[in-house]
Amino acid sequence: MEFQLNGRSVRTGGFPAHATLLDYLRNNGLTGAKEGCAEGECGACAVLAVAGDGGGSRYRAVNSCLLLLHSLDGQEVHTVEGLACDGVLSEPQRAIAEGGGSQCGYCTPGFAVSLFAEYYRPDRTGLCDPHAMGGNLCRCTGYRPLRDAALSLGAAPDDGFRERLDRPAPAMSAYSTPCFERPESLDACIALLAANPDARIVAGATDLAVEANLRGRRWPKLVSVEGVRELKTFSETADAIEIGAALTLAEIEERWTDAPAVVRSWFTLFASPLIRNRATLGGNLATASPVGDAAPLLLALDAEVRIAAPSGARSVALRDFFQSYRKTALAPGELIAAIRIPKPLPARLAFYKAAKRVMDDISTVAAAFAIDTDTDGRITSARAAYGGVAETPVLVSAFERALLGRPWNPSAVRAAQDAVAGMLTPLSDHRGSAAYRLAVAQSLIEKCWWETREAEAA
Ligand SMILES: Cc1cc2nc3c(=O)[nH]c(=O)nc-3n(C[C@H](O)[C@H](O)[C@H](O)COP(=O)(O)OP(=O)(O)OC[C@H]3O[C@@H](n4cnc5c(N)ncnc54)[C@H](O)[C@@H]3O)c2cc1C
Ligand code: FES
Ligand code: FES
Repeated sequence: MEFQLNGRSVRTGGFPAHATLLDYLRNNGLTGAKEGCAEGECGACAVLAVAGDGGGSRYRAVNSCLLLLHSLDGQEVHTVEGLACDGVLSEPQRAIAEGGGSQCGYCTPGFAVSLFAEYYRPDRTGLCDPHAMGGNLCRCTGYRPLRDAALSLGAAPDDGFRERLDRPAPAMSAYSTPCFERPESLDACIALLAANPDARIVAGATDLAVEANLRGRRWPKLVSVEGVRELKTFSETADAIEIGAALTLAEIEERWTDAPAVVRSWFTLFASPLIRNRATLGGNLATASPVGDAAPLLLALDAEVRIAAPSGARSVALRDFFQSYRKTALAPGELIAAIRIPKPLPARLAFYKAAKRVMDDISTVAAAFAIDTDTDGRITSARAAYGGVAETPVLVSAFERALLGRPWNPSAVRAAQDAVAGMLTPLSDHRGSAAYRLAVAQSLIEKCWWETREAEAA
């Protein structure tokens, strides 16, 4: 395999499928990126990937502990060592150093990398957004000096780093080794899966690499969907929005320019920028995690999963996609091609994530509600979907039965709360007891009512 590392071509090989860029870097003397957690939580391992589609490109900060080395063939990466030119620190590095944003220094390269990506963000017009460092943790300095460093930066200079963004990002061309394949077309991908029944699909690897790093999982072959062009499309018509399964959350956020406010804030509640730069929607649904955040929102939006199969394409309503704990309707050799959201979108849409931390945390309970009424204010459709309250994400059909034909008022809220309580089977774990989860699931219906009432009164 060959890739560009800090502007130089690197040729290397012989790595197993699960090898990560972080291991490669540290074994080759580039020790700026640190291993803090090996599971995408701390950002100490952050590096920059040059990414984009068509015209220009951008720097995306990503966790190198979750970046599979093979996935980098033909790609361009910069580590913190490459950001300073001839011994002169880049502006983000200088601002962090001079602003007292570093003490022990363990986290500092990761913060510098995330801030660097924000500093050179092509569509940035104002100050750097400190939230760009939202996936980086610091245990000793505290975040104030880091925030101030971000806010002290002006426009990026017209230097080589900026000029690089005028050119397209490297293509995700076909790549093939005995343990890792990256096809370019859907047909080639399906053929590979059929010929290799033991192969595992990989997209952004934000789940899969954690399995390898922390649970020692190994695979004889991985088939990456990152280069499959049919899975990287986004389209919106009068009838639907269709999102390619291999688009990252960051790409979806950029392409869905008229997404409802609820969806826009949903993005910010999903993990961190470092994870969103790699995590795909297809990967999220395929894990069938009971605490995944995409499923409740998409269930409330009545989404459909487009499945690519050896025998052709088929579609499954998302409400039928999750079959039991971590089990989906995908048969061997099948993959998620796209997610289709029908239009018009519901008039009232809400998403809530109850977690121990507001940002960058796993949901204890996630809930999404979609409610439409007629001109008399009577409910014509109502969907409530939850994560964290059953062995799969669930659409609670009793919610709609309890609400149809009623006005959206406090008595309807109480009826919906009773209906939901009878249908949920939460577990107790370290994030919350079953009773707590049930209480949250019910109270979020009331929260939705208050919020929609206030929005309509405004
Ligand atoms: C630090 C951290 C924070 C996180 N925070 C959140 C969070 O807030 N909310 C949340 O919901 N999740 C969170 N996650 C989980 C994870 O980021 C998501 O599940 C992500 O969307 C997975 O996508 P991926 O592309 O990385 O999948 P991968 O890791 O590449 O794959 C995951 C699984 O899906 C399969 N797969 C991938 N693509 C397809 C496809 N097209 N068709 C069929 N199977 C496929 C793979 O075989 C694998 O089994 C977090 C993860 C980490 C590490
Ligand atoms: S080592 Fe913590 S995010 Fe990579
Ligand atoms: S400076 Fe020590 S962890 Fe951030």
